[in-house]
Order: sequence, then C-alpha cells, then structure tokens
Amino acid sequence: MATPGSAVVLSDEEKGYDLDLFCIPKHYAADLERVYIPHGLILDRTERLAREIMKDMGGHHIVALCVLKGGYKFFADLLDYIKALNRNSDQSIPMTVDFIRLKSYSNDQSTGDIKVIGGDDLSTLTGKNVLIVEDIIDTGKTMMTLLQLLKQYKPKMVKVASLLVKRTPRSVGYRPDFIGFEIPDKFVVGYALDYNEYFRDLNHICVISESGKEKYKA
Ligand code: HPA
Ligand code: MG
Repeated sequence: MATPGSAVVLSDEEKGYDLDLFCIPKHYAADLERVYIPHGLILDRTERLAREIMKDMGGHHIVALCVLKGGYKFFADLLDYIKALNRNSDQSIPMTVDFIRLKSYSNDQSTGDIKVIGGDDLSTLTGKNVLIVEDIIDTGKTMMTLLQLLKQYKPKMVKVASLLVKRTPRSVGYRPDFIGFEIPDKFVVGYALDYNEYFRDLNHICVISESGKEKYKA
C-alpha cells in the first residue's frame, strides 16, 4: 500500500545507465554523463501518481496548477493519465488548468521571496481543490513560500505533486504530498528540467557531464 509522500527512491549508489543503451539527441551526446531515469519509467510512475491523486482529491473540482517551465512535461503526462481515469470510471470530476511562473524577488535565491507571474487571478482558487505540479523540490523554500501565498486565497485543499525530490542537506524539510522519485544530491536535466534553458528537449532524466556544464554555463 502506497503511503502519502512515498516515492521511488534512488540511492546514492545509483549509477543510472550508459547513454549508448538509450536514444539520446546527438546534439547532447557529449554533454551528458548517464541516463538516470529513463522516460518510460517516468511515465509508469506518473500513471500511478495519477491514481493516488484521484483517490485523494477526486471528490471535488480540481484546479491543476503547473509551475513553468520545468513542470510542463510532468504536468501534461500526469493530466493525460488523470483524464484517462476520468473517462474510464463511474466517478469523474471536472478539472481546470492554469500555468504560473515563479520569480525570485532578489538575486539571492536563499531568501525564498517569490513573485508569481502569469496565470489567472489567484482568487479563482478560492474553494477549489488545488493541485500544484512541480518538476523538482530542492531546498523546498520556494514551495513553502508559494503555499503560504496561496493559503490567503482560501482554497478548499492544496496538494503538491513533484516529479522529483532531492535529498540535500540544504533542505528545509518540506516534503510534497505526491512524489515521483527521490534522488541524491546531483544536478539532473531532461524531461523539461533545464541547465540554463538547455536539455528541456531531452526525454530521459540524465546527469549532466562536466563538459556539458562548461559548454552551457551562463
Ligand atoms: N535540475 C534542474 N533544475 C533544478 C535542479 C536540478 O537538479 N535542482 C533545482 N532546480
Ligand atoms: Mg521548478
């Protein structure tokens, strides 16, 4: 039985897979070290998360809130699985979508002060079951701040689904309600996660190489 917040845990020893065992765009071949989470595994895990989310939140209109840009692939695939559940079961609920971007107020990312840009007026969330969909929780500061902000609009419920959660000593201890994979403290890219805007156009989640970091550094 899956417990809330449970995840597929990748241990610190997890090596991933040799790049040559999978299909990688040629333009990135030298910039990656290993395939860390293959695309098919991401989808299989996402399918199960869709079921957990519907079990937990499926009693009332859901507003699915995508945190751009990194969350867009997970969001699209997760919603496809939720839609499949809705059309194949006796019970179904309407779902609406919205898209936001978060910007740090200052250059100092450690303050956690954020500004929400884009999306509808947040007052549309009042009384709704809100599902925030994020690519990765690293320190957790940004998500804690976003949750504080949304609370003011009195949603009926707010839950967070994050594809990845990083095990890092920098964590403030925040853990989302639905987690795809818990990963070691490594920088990963692909499946819409970027390094200076590159690697979003890569299906698998991969570990970047030293030469890749150098080539695409800001
Ligand atoms: N990859 C991409 N974006 C991120 C990461 C990461 O490992 N951690 C925080 N943002
Ligand atoms: Mg993100």
